[in-house]
Amino acid sequence: MSTVRGLEGLQGARIALAFSGGLDTSVMAFWLQKEFGAEIVTVSGDLGQEKELNGINEKAHSLGAKAAYHVDLKQEFAEEYVFRALKAGALYEGEYPLATALGRPLLAKTLVEIARKEECTVVAHGCTGKGNDQVRFDAGVWALAPDLRVIAPVRHWEFKSREDEIAYCAENAIPVQATKKNPYSIDENLWGTSIECGVLEDPTVAPPEDAYQRTVSPLIAPNTPEEIAITFEQGVPVALNGNGMPAVELIVTLNHLAGAHGIGRLDMIENRLVGIKSREIYEAPGATLLHYAHRELERLTLDKWSAHHKAKIAQDYAELIYNGLWFSPLRQAFDAFIDSTQQTVSGTVVVQMYKGNLTILSRTSPFSLYDKALASYTSEDTFDHAAGEGFSKIFSLPLRTIARVRQSAEQVLSEQA
Ligand code: ARG
Repeated sequence: MSTVRGLEGLQGARIALAFSGGLDTSVMAFWLQKEFGAEIVTVSGDLGQEKELNGINEKAHSLGAKAAYHVDLKQEFAEEYVFRALKAGALYEGEYPLATALGRPLLAKTLVEIARKEECTVVAHGCTGKGNDQVRFDAGVWALAPDLRVIAPVRHWEFKSREDEIAYCAENAIPVQATKKNPYSIDENLWGTSIECGVLEDPTVAPPEDAYQRTVSPLIAPNTPEEIAITFEQGVPVALNGNGMPAVELIVTLNHLAGAHGIGRLDMIENRLVGIKSREIYEAPGATLLHYAHRELERLTLDKWSAHHKAKIAQDYAELIYNGLWFSPLRQAFDAFIDSTQQTVSGTVVVQMYKGNLTILSRTSPFSLYDKALASYTSEDTFDHAAGEGFSKIFSLPLRTIARVRQSAEQVLSEQA
């Protein structure tokens, strides 16, 4: 039995491990048993990633796991995480729809639930020490289970590279498939794909086409535009082109439709929580379309003060998700405010998709605050024009006061000169 700095006292522990089936977490499952005589329970969450999780429990067992769980989290993810972020208008640094960041707290919650059921005292995840995801897992678990120990072996173990891990697999006859080397690090779920590493680490280099996983280049997207109607009820999308659709199906469908038009590609330099600036490529076709349509509906249905205040909250809400504070009282308080604003965000938005661009074609709502009789410049106009004079006079009063004071001050000064 060895001791590894930072992982003291793990001998014989029963550990719930977040298991993706990839190289890192496969090596981890084996390594924790070998180094510490630990018992491993694997937890694999299906958040709608396109990469199949079929056979993942068998893989866990072949690595020696005592128990293996493969949990379908798609509906809960869509309804309780993704749609909250959509209603909030949460886009980190104004653009990133937060797919990876939204998935982590749900995986952390699932880890805790299974750790309890399986009487594990430790949970483990595969994150590195320089990313945001370690914080999201750690904070997510501790917010729900302060008594559990959370470990991230990558922060402590001896392997420095993928090659080291592959050599370790060969030495120990660990049954990992000869994984073909993908030059990128990819995390994906229903709400989007995050892609980094390889040539993308150079911010002067445009992403090669093979970096993209689920969208076509706008350059080769169809030459014919496509219209799509999205219906919302209280801020939540419920139908496509008039057909009611459950959350997961709706997002999956939009990912395909919008992805085929090259919608939702992002190339971002972002500020990580740990202080590093990093370059990430994102693909979020469905998320981009839904945020766009939702925002257009809010323009029609929200009163000015709620809309302006909500935009400020949106930024804080995005930062909170990004920083791993999903299970916080502040998020719940924000949700109460946001849900209150969404009571009238119901209606239908028609959007045109064309070569990576979205254009609004139409918006309707029973709660539309747009009053044509007030806005019109025709004979239909019902606005009280005469009232404009008094309004304008009083609104601009501070400016007139400033100007008047300056005028007389300048006069006094020029008389003294
Ligand atoms: N930068 C994104 C975030 O912090 C994604 C992180 C994971 N990215 C990846 N390519 N594995 O949410």
